[in-house]
Amino acid sequence: MEKVGLGLRFSFMEDVLNGSQKPDWFEIAPENWMSRGGKMFDILEKIRADIPIVCHGLSLSIGSPDDLDFIFLKELKQFLDYFEIDVYSEHLSFSSLDNGYLYDLFPVPFTEDRVKHISKKIKIVQDVLERKLILENISYYFKFDGEMEEVDFINQVLEEGNCELLLDINNVYVNSMNHNYDPVKFIKNINKEKVAYYHIAGHEKFDDLLIDTHGAQVNSQVFNLLEIVLEEIGEKPTLLERDNNIPPYEQLFEEYEKLKEFVENAKVY
Ligand SMILES: [Fe+2]
Repeated sequence: MEKVGLGLRFSFMEDVLNGSQKPDWFEIAPENWMSRGGKMFDILEKIRADIPIVCHGLSLSIGSPDDLDFIFLKELKQFLDYFEIDVYSEHLSFSSLDNGYLYDLFPVPFTEDRVKHISKKIKIVQDVLERKLILENISYYFKFDGEMEEVDFINQVLEEGNCELLLDINNVYVNSMNHNYDPVKFIKNINKEKVAYYHIAGHEKFDDLLIDTHGAQVNSQVFNLLEIVLEEIGEKPTLLERDNNIPPYEQLFEEYEKLKEFVENAKVY
């Protein structure tokens, strides 16, 4: 992965194919493509011929008490192999329970018991996919009393699961505001050796709560935190995520270029 990537969305795929504005790399959700054919799949193949792609999954549900879905994992591996995609990330969360989909990403209780359970599942996923699993810190809106600190939980999972971290800087900011902790301390305490790449996105404020909507431009507080991350952790590929209120591609690409200029001017590359 090179410097700065962009989340690829259906709404602007034809603009990418027909235009000249191309990011260093794209990130896609494999679940949106795994059983798909037709025109959009053809466009994806053409884009892939030109631009590197990484996968960011939605339904692995690594934190669920349920067993892993081996049919899904097998299909996923076929997909990754077909497009020769080496980088596969997911969320440190659960999205299924009792074998039913919950249609959202829920936080895992930050306990020793969950660390052990998740670490075992990570090893199996890595064996089946023959790739390193990269897990993202998610935004969460409730926390139970008596749990360990989020950063300690993440570090233990990274260590025991022998996997890597997708550090979502917007999620660190949003969580720090909603749960009243210092985001810089979080950044300083995370296991830097394990960070594979960064996500950056916009959020919105509803009453006193910040919600990780991916529906707005990245604001100055999150850019400030990115600067601290680049100083503390250093050079890593960075992805701009936008899932809602997606502007026309030309406008989104301006945001992408602004981010690229920002990381280049941070003088850490
Ligand atoms: Fe993210």
